Amino acid sequence: MRRLALAAAATTGALALTGCSGDGSGSGDGKAGLSVSSAYMPQPVSADMAAGFLTITNKGAAKDALTSVTSDVAGRITMHDTVGGAMQEVTSFAVPAHGQLVFKSGGNHLMFEKLRRKPQQGQTITLKLKFAKSGPLTVEMPVKSATYNPSTGH
Ligand code: CU
Repeated sequence: MRRLALAAAATTGALALTGCSGDGSGSGDGKAGLSVSSAYMPQPVSADMAAGFLTITNKGAAKDALTSVTSDVAGRITMHDTVGGAMQEVTSFAVPAHGQLVFKSGGNHLMFEKLRRKPQQGQTITLKLKFAKSGPLTVEMPVKSATYNPSTGH
């Protein structure tokens, strides 16, 4: 019984340490640390407009802002948020320190306008994201089915 109690205490200690590792002590240089995940585009129904979604994670101690998105596939990419079911164009999106900027169906989204070719499922779209402070990021965005749901994976 005594050995079991010690093992339980050690496990609890490890969990507590893990829980504290997000306090930002390792990133005191005041910079944003940006990465992109979960990018996808549902294959568009329209020949001249498409939507795109992704998640930007900031592991750094400074906030940043997404200020523009470009791609060779679209003449123009605008950024929209959704308020009360209605979408509206915005000129930048905040990326909080130690936080995320999430684009997802029904919420924030990218609108690809003036498409130069119609993206097809299985293709990959290359995007360039520009930020207020950090350097630009290049993102490979796969084109999924028109009804793709990232939470089910199909
Ligand atoms: Cu929109």
